[in-house]
Amino acid sequence: MKNVQHATIGIVGAGAMGQGIAQIAAVAGLEVRLMDVDPAASARAVTALGAMLDKLAAKEKLTLEEAQAARRRIQTEDRVAALSDCDMVVEAIVENLEVKRTLFAQLEEVVRDDAVLVSNTSSLSITAIAASCGHPQRVAGYHFFNPVPLMKVVEVVSGLRTSDATVDWLTSLAKHLGHTPVRCRDMPGFIVNHAGRALNTEGLRIVQEGVANESTVDAIVREQMGFRMGPFELLDLTGLDVSHPVMESIYRQFYDEPRFRPSPITAIRLAGGMLRRKSGTGFYEYDGGAKVPAPLSTTEQAGWKPAAVWVSPHHPEEARRVLDLLKASDVEIEGGIAPSHDALIIVTPLGHDATSAAIWQALDPKRVVAVDTIFGFDAGVRRVIMPTPATRPDMLTRAQMLFGIGGELVSTVRDSGGFVAQRIVACIVNTACEIAQQRIATPEDIDAAVRLGLGYPYGPLALGDRIGAKRIVAVLKGLMDVYGDPRYRAGVWLSRRAALNLPLGLLD
Ligand code: NAI
Repeated sequence: MKNVQHATIGIVGAGAMGQGIAQIAAVAGLEVRLMDVDPAASARAVTALGAMLDKLAAKEKLTLEEAQAARRRIQTEDRVAALSDCDMVVEAIVENLEVKRTLFAQLEEVVRDDAVLVSNTSSLSITAIAASCGHPQRVAGYHFFNPVPLMKVVEVVSGLRTSDATVDWLTSLAKHLGHTPVRCRDMPGFIVNHAGRALNTEGLRIVQEGVANESTVDAIVREQMGFRMGPFELLDLTGLDVSHPVMESIYRQFYDEPRFRPSPITAIRLAGGMLRRKSGTGFYEYDGGAKVPAPLSTTEQAGWKPAAVWVSPHHPEEARRVLDLLKASDVEIEGGIAPSHDALIIVTPLGHDATSAAIWQALDPKRVVAVDTIFGFDAGVRRVIMPTPATRPDMLTRAQMLFGIGGELVSTVRDSGGFVAQRIVACIVNTACEIAQQRIATPEDIDAAVRLGLGYPYGPLALGDRIGAKRIVAVLKGLMDVYGDPRYRAGVWLSRRAALNLPLGLLD
């Protein structure tokens, strides 16, 4: 195989993805042959690429000479036969197995035996595409993300017959293109679309259960968990016409795995045409592309009022976090093994709801309020509390004021196993651990793929380590107690590492 720096790359399909791949390849100094069945699509792509290269030159990301040279390296073709001298061909045409198989058969007739053939598919099996090829060892997945030049990661997917040499070559090429290659086995969703299931499906479950509305869940994911976007903002960006079928397809491809169960909420909204930000109406309303502020379903309280507070020691470490926070105020904190008759009772459940915490600890449910300790109480971290259905309004108000110390925002959600953040983060970590356990990708590649492909602040395994694997397992066990739903069962990768005090990134 030719040195990647001198490779000639064919790209079939001059749509959004083909165009992006052409741009990074040409900028990296490779010769590009861009082919499309529709000559108008090729012409549009060349115009758009020219404009993009000009823009990069104007922003001084490229010199004028580099931009002009990159433009000269992109040649359009209208026949597959014109790709005969390519060292590699990337297919980025319609997402249809039969159409892709036909194209791969045509490509095999024209390219050299050692040319690499890759598909940019996001949902089809690479093994299935390669099955009808004469040389399946040189066929792989090369899954870029949109927009390609900005999303600097590519999944290098091995089908059952893909050779190591092919994967190594594609890995080197990705680095030459300035992208991070992450290797994975041919399994539904590869890494990113597999790991990304948890945030959306758990966010949807929380809303479906009536725990909080969409804007509250998004605010908690951003301001308590530190993510850039909440699940509903993300769904509005992608569009339900894309996201809902992906949710259904991955669920079905894993034979109805409860962890990936889709939601009727997106099915109904899809049927109603409330699809995305671009069309003006998604989960949020948009005015000229800007999100119209949506009311939170929660009370937000700032300030504090001294009141007798008793913090349950049931989870000593979690209770310590609350006590450390409260020590900073001059609120009266009761000691002792039981609360006085009129104290506000704070519980710190992991995975359990406020009701079960009150009942199992034999506390007065009318005075119990639970607080989520999972992401701590640093300044700027949104605080989330939940009452039992029996909690007295005055007790809830006291808790809202108490946790609003220092002007921090407090969200009150309805009683829920694991609040909002605990259940979302536990599902994210557990899903990533399953990907590692199934040897779909290495822990390092899982974390890199999720950071770069989904924009999470940490890879999911690193996030699990920051929070603590034992706490994540405790949340999942609590969720299983409350809901009895196997979607919350802890996988063996997670539970073994938690039991042995080992990092979640440790391969065995
Ligand atoms: P697109 O619809 O923008 O472009 C597809 C292009 O392929 C069109 O110009 C069409 O004329 C051409 N085409 C269709 N059949 C052809 C054939 N037999 N031979 C030559 N050209 C043909 O599609 P887009 O969004 O660029 O996606 C392409 C592929 O990349 C799909 O497999 C998709 O699943 C995958 N993908 C898309 C992502 C996205 O966000 N758009 C992200 C990652 C992967």
